[in-house]
Amino acid sequence: MNFDIKHFDSIVSTNSYLFELGKSGACEGTVIIADEQTGGRGRSGRTFESPKGNIYMSILLRPEKSVDKLHLLTPMCAVCLVNAINDVLKKKCSIKWVNDLYYNDRKVCGILTELSMRDNIAQYAVIGIGLNVYYHDFDKELFNVAGSLLNEAESSACSDKSVLINELINSILIGFNRYYENYDVNDFMNEYRKYSLVIGKKVTYFTETSMDEVDVIDIDDNGCLVVKNTNGEVKAFYDGEIRIKI
Ligand code: BTN
Repeated sequence: MNFDIKHFDSIVSTNSYLFELGKSGACEGTVIIADEQTGGRGRSGRTFESPKGNIYMSILLRPEKSVDKLHLLTPMCAVCLVNAINDVLKKKCSIKWVNDLYYNDRKVCGILTELSMRDNIAQYAVIGIGLNVYYHDFDKELFNVAGSLLNEAESSACSDKSVLINELINSILIGFNRYYENYDVNDFMNEYRKYSLVIGKKVTYFTETSMDEVDVIDIDDNGCLVVKNTNGEVKAFYDGEIRIKI
């Protein structure tokens, strides 16, 4: 895949913008990058705080993969991100099922994958990545949750902040291309499990209507969270949210 990168100083949301480009036929590999977003979006209709100093990037795909494997684009992307951050910064992040990266007990990255479907066939996919790189004082409600890869001292020691941002973007895109072309599910899911923050932990699993204390046993090759509940029943969850005591 060849990447065609368009850069914006500021944009409402790289995902929303690229989703519209997808409708008008933009090619696979179109990438939108912005220094800040004024209306960044997260999963389940949440907002994604998007100040300057971070990476906001969306990638357009026109996947010929079978539709039942497309939800694995998110874990695949998470693995690419962990590898790129380790290569460039020598910092080891963990993955909180399904789409969050954690560093030093703080969420430093979220992934939002959106599919355009017609007659049960994916027309295109937009994968959005929000990666907090430089130190930022997050809003009160995110204060105990969100963090950045670089602490305050490391951030102020950087004279040209864009150099590191560009290195990370390059490394992410190179890795992404490699994993996407191969799409070896067993291979990237093995890495996903290796980087998992939740396997072997007690977590709260919740949906809009329920909440359960469970032990996470595994994450299978289908991306499902395999858990044992307090009655000893083993279940596999395809979707939902978990909260983990860190
Ligand atoms: C989440 O944590 O719930 C997912 C956050 C995804 C944020 C990224 S930033 C780039 C792209 N544009 C958006 O509006 N959202 C994604």
